[in-house]
Amino acid sequence: MKNIAIVTGASSGIGKEFFLSLQDRAEGIDEIWVVARSEDKLRALASLTTPPVRVFALDLSRAESASALKKALEEEETSIKYLICASGFGRFQSVEADELSVLENMIDLNCRSILSVTKICAPYMQKGGAMILIASISAFQPVPYIATYAATKSFVLSYGRALNRELRKSRGARVLCVCPFWTKTAFFDRATTENEVVKKYAVMYEPSQIVKRAWKDLKKKNRDVSVCGAYSKGQALLVKLLPHKWVMSIWLKQQKLK
Ligand SMILES: NC(=O)c1ccc[n+]([C@@H]2O[C@H](COP(=O)([O-])OP(=O)(O)OC[C@H]3O[C@@H](n4cnc5c(N)ncnc54)[C@H](OP(=O)(O)O)[C@@H]3O)[C@@H](O)[C@H]2O)c1
Repeated sequence: MKNIAIVTGASSGIGKEFFLSLQDRAEGIDEIWVVARSEDKLRALASLTTPPVRVFALDLSRAESASALKKALEEEETSIKYLICASGFGRFQSVEADELSVLENMIDLNCRSILSVTKICAPYMQKGGAMILIASISAFQPVPYIATYAATKSFVLSYGRALNRELRKSRGARVLCVCPFWTKTAFFDRATTENEVVKKYAVMYEPSQIVKRAWKDLKKKNRDVSVCGAYSKGQALLVKLLPHKWVMSIWLKQQKLK
């Protein structure tokens, strides 16, 4: 039986940081499977950890990509200790101004691929193992001009928390939904458009802070959501208490979008 960890979005940002953090948790992991589109970046990861790395250069927004993972899992006797789903992207743009194909692609990657990968991996999760799904602080609220992205992350949060209850019962495994606020990664290269939407970044975290918090939260038996930092926690709480009409108005005012 081969014990593995799988990281999607391992080529960059938060996913790469999770990949690197597995070095400290390498005991009991025979292989790390890494998934993203950039094959070169994935290959370069091999020298950074002790367990051997297996590269899956896949565009997860394509429905057929997940079946490559399914095939690989079926071919070997594998047991998954960690599944970390970090592939994703967002766009700062009004729904009207953005391309339909881009928004649909975002749903394919941020939602459908999370469903496919977690569903395919669920039967292989080992007792005490965990799925870590990267949602976003925007999962807690509707966000005009980042509307589709925030909605995709609400899906991840709702789906992940519910799946957590199912997997705990069926396999003794966990799901943790990680909800980062702004984090210094290549995310913004793809998110920003010619129309400046976000003018004020209230906070900016390092990927290492998000990942460190997530591993700490995973140690807490009943935790299914990980929010890093006092500012993020404060916002998540306020958003829970205030009517979402107000929350959206505050956001629009803050970003001078009114
Ligand atoms: N940075 C933030 O402020 C922030 C805040 C909240 C949540 N998040 C979430 O955190 C996660 C990681 O993002 P990041 O901030 O680390 O940004 P990033 O540095 O741009 O990383 C995104 C990762 O997703 C992969 N990816 C993109 N499109 C893909 C596709 N079609 N198929 C497979 N993999 C794909 C990228 O690899 P390739 O380009 O090689 O495919 C890359 O590894 C995302 O889900 C994002 O929504 C980010």
